[in-house]
Amino acid sequence: MEKALYHPTSGFYATGRTRTGQGGDFLTPVSPGPVLGELLARQADEIHETLGRPPIFNLIEQGADTGWLARDLFLSVQKNHPRLASTARLHLVEPHPALQQIQHRTLDAAGLTKSVQWHASWKEFPGSSTPCFFYSCELVDSFPVKILQFRDGAWRQKAVGEKDARLVWHVQEADPDTRTEIQRWKPPEVEGNTMELRPGVEPWVQSWAKKIPCGMVVTLDYGFPAAQLFSPARSGGTLVAIRNHQRVQDPLLNPGELDLTAHVNFTELEDLAAARGWKNYGLTDLARGLTTLAAPLLKEDSNLPEAWIRNFRHLTHPSFFGQSHQILVQGKGLPGTFCPSMVMKI
Ligand SMILES: C[S@@+](CC[C@H](N)C(=O)[O-])C[C@H]1O[C@@H](n2cnc3c(N)ncnc32)[C@H](O)[C@@H]1O
Repeated sequence: MEKALYHPTSGFYATGRTRTGQGGDFLTPVSPGPVLGELLARQADEIHETLGRPPIFNLIEQGADTGWLARDLFLSVQKNHPRLASTARLHLVEPHPALQQIQHRTLDAAGLTKSVQWHASWKEFPGSSTPCFFYSCELVDSFPVKILQFRDGAWRQKAVGEKDARLVWHVQEADPDTRTEIQRWKPPEVEGNTMELRPGVEPWVQSWAKKIPCGMVVTLDYGFPAAQLFSPARSGGTLVAIRNHQRVQDPLLNPGELDLTAHVNFTELEDLAAARGWKNYGLTDLARGLTTLAAPLLKEDSNLPEAWIRNFRHLTHPSFFGQSHQILVQGKGLPGTFCPSMVMKI
């Protein structure tokens, strides 16, 4: 999965071909238009205000891909949130040079490149006391997974090998660390049950938690809390291969030409961040999270443009992104009584 998605010259994402949107291979919540960026800008402004309007404030995105969400969010900050705009710096964590170039073009066309800095990884992101709003959309689902299957009374790893110039599955013993990790999630030990583990998640949380002193982290993705993710309802696992808006049955076909993705274990993200002093404010679906954020706009402005309403419905409707996608909101250094709008009950 690592090679198929990120090989420097032929990985699905590393080539810089457009993968998201109508002209790509799949749609994401960024695809329907600028409303997601606009609503995230409202959440960022609320945090900036809650922290007493600090003189420098970092907006950070990782996995920005085309750069559309960063553009939409930053343009909205400039237009609608002047106090945040005068202090905000945009940072993109992007390891792939081809994607950095695309993001550069997107932000340049919107006149924003002066306010942006790129970092190839979190290691290069400067540690400081500056508060941050770090957001990502469909980033974690694209971190490589290990596939485990319960067979003949034990958990085994489905590894990928080569036979007659084709990639094939071969099943091997799971190593002791993997077996310990599996037990942590208590998946049903039923013949054929399949699950994924994502080894890149812990180092990822570790790296942002080390560099962000306070503020908010918003992780938008599809997935479930562990109890639901590893329940008998998902006994086939969640790995999916996609090309040209269609599901492909064999994920080993045409490596580098298919998107490979698996659902996110949000309990893992909550536990890892909590162990590093971060408070979990809540996990909510996109429909609820964005509706609470948009509530003042929906009340104040009965003349919202038709295109805005269509974009908002696309994000919140249960048959589009409204229920499939979740938002995890985590924070540090915020007042004890504070509750982010995104997870507020309405
Ligand atoms: C499913 S796409 C989502 C793109 C975009 N955020 C959106 O929602 O339309 C996943 C993106 O995450 C990026 N990605 C995966 N691992 C990454 C990492 N460690 N650092 C930065 N980006 C990463 C991929 O290159 C790809 O651009």
